[in-house]
Amino acid sequence: MAIKNLQEKFLHGLQDAYDAEHQFLKAQQEMLPQATAETVKTLLTQHITETEQQIGILEEVFETLGESAERTKCAGAAGIVSEGEKLLKEVADNPALVDLAISGSCGKVEHYEIASYRMLITGAEQTNQPQVAQLLQTILQQEERTAQKIEQSAPALFQQAMGRAASA
Ligand SMILES: [Fe+2]
Ligand SMILES: [Fe+2]
Repeated sequence: MAIKNLQEKFLHGLQDAYDAEHQFLKAQQEMLPQATAETVKTLLTQHITETEQQIGILEEVFETLGESAERTKCAGAAGIVSEGEKLLKEVADNPALVDLAISGSCGKVEHYEIASYRMLITGAEQTNQPQVAQLLQTILQQEERTAQKIEQSAPALFQQAMGRAASA
């Protein structure tokens, strides 16, 4: 369907993010049982809860705008998720590589989300919708914190993978 004006474009972005969150929630739930490193398990568990909250926050945003919460298929999210699934199958025999693969996929997801929410927040601010901007800011902060945690935990995961390789 053609997008005819700025408000429709903004709404489309929200529907896209709403769909992406559902896709990422399912992907994280599927990755969790495959993780072995405590840091990865903890991170996923925390962010699954946050992602559920984010879906609720987006519903609040739709409500604020007087719109119904609808999903528009997010092809970007689908691509990142399917790439992650494929990689996980390929490293399945090596737990240390599984943890690294999960961490890498989650990092890509977070940065995709950060880019989306930053643009949506700028849109909400510029179109004078401070309440919407504030709700989206709550989500953005969770994504940024998660991305930071993933990056901070990565060196230890590489060390673990090297240790396993040396003792194998
Ligand atoms: Fe999210
Ligand atoms: Fe996220």
